[in-house]
Amino acid sequence: MPKHIILDTDPGIDDSLAILLALASPEVVLDGISTIHGNASTAQVTTNALAILEFANASHVPVYRGCELPLVQPSLLAPETHGGNGLGYAKLSAPQSRPQVKHGSDYLIESIMSSPNEITLVAIGPLTNIAMAIRKEPRIVQNVKEVFIMGGAIQHTGNTTALAEFNTYVDPHAAHIVFHSGMPMILTPLDVTYECIFLKEDLDRLLKIDSPITKFIADATRFYMEFHDEYQKIDGCVINDPMTLALTFMPEICDYQNLVVDVDISTGVGLGNTFADFYNYEKKQPNMKVALGVRPRMFMELFLERMEKLAKSLL
Ligand code: BDR
Ligand code: CA
Repeated sequence: MPKHIILDTDPGIDDSLAILLALASPEVVLDGISTIHGNASTAQVTTNALAILEFANASHVPVYRGCELPLVQPSLLAPETHGGNGLGYAKLSAPQSRPQVKHGSDYLIESIMSSPNEITLVAIGPLTNIAMAIRKEPRIVQNVKEVFIMGGAIQHTGNTTALAEFNTYVDPHAAHIVFHSGMPMILTPLDVTYECIFLKEDLDRLLKIDSPITKFIADATRFYMEFHDEYQKIDGCVINDPMTLALTFMPEICDYQNLVVDVDISTGVGLGNTFADFYNYEKKQPNMKVALGVRPRMFMELFLERMEKLAKSLL
C-alpha cells in the first residue's frame, strides 16, 4: 500500500526536486501540497508549486497556500540560494490552476483528522504551517502517522548562520513548537544531506535524455551549483529536500539515533541552532529519530533513476 503524503514546502530548487521525486515514486501518493514562506515569498512558492505540478502533468494534486510570515521573527527569504523566483534559472509557464481556498494549516488539520494514522507529513520548509496547525488543533499530534522534517544541523555547521540551518533559522519558534509537540518525528539534518552532493556528472547522466524535465533540472540546479561554489566551495549542490522525501519509503538510505533534540530560541548568536543531548543528561524521552549516517550513492541512484523514468514518461 502506498503511503499518503502531504508535502509542506517552499519551492525552492530542491523542494521542486522533492515534488518531482514524489510524483515519480509509486511507493507514495502525493495527496496535496501546503506552501510556506522560506526560499521565496508564499505567493511566489505557491505559484511555483502549481507550475511544477502542471509541468509534470500532475495538476490534479491540490495546492493550499500557507502562512505568509514566521511566528515571531521577521521574514527571511533566500534569493541568493534559489534565485529571485525560487527556481534558479528555470522558467516555467505561468500556471493555469489556482490554489485551493482553504488555508494550508487548515488543510493539514482536516486531512490528518479525517484519516487518523494515515497521513505522512513531509515538512521541507520552515515549520510555521505545522506549528500553527498544532496550536489550532492539538489532536493532530496523536493522529498524524509520522512527520519527516528537513531541518537542523546537529553536529554539522549551519548553512545560514555558523550554527543554524535555514529552515530552523527562518522560524525557530515554529520549530520549537513542533519539536516539543510529541509528534512522531524523523529529522533529516544537514549532517546527512551534506554527504549527498548532486554532481555535474549526475546532471550529465540525466541530460542524456532530452526532455523538459531534464532541462528544468539543469536550469534550476545550475543556479544552485553556482551558489554552493561561491558560498561553500562545494562542487555540485546539496539536494536536501528530495533526500528527506526518499526516506519516507527507503529508510535504509540512513542510519538513525533516537535523541532529545531542541532548538535555540534565545536572541543570541545561537538563534535557530539545533542540538541533541547525546548523553541525555536531563533523562528525557527522545523526541525524534535523527538521521546521522547515510549511504549517499544509494540515495543518488534512486533519485537519478526516478528522474530518468519521469523524464522519459514526459517526453
Ligand atoms: C533547506 O533550506 C532550503 O534552502 C532548502 O530548500 C532546504 O529545505 C536546507 O537548509
Ligand atoms: Ca525547502
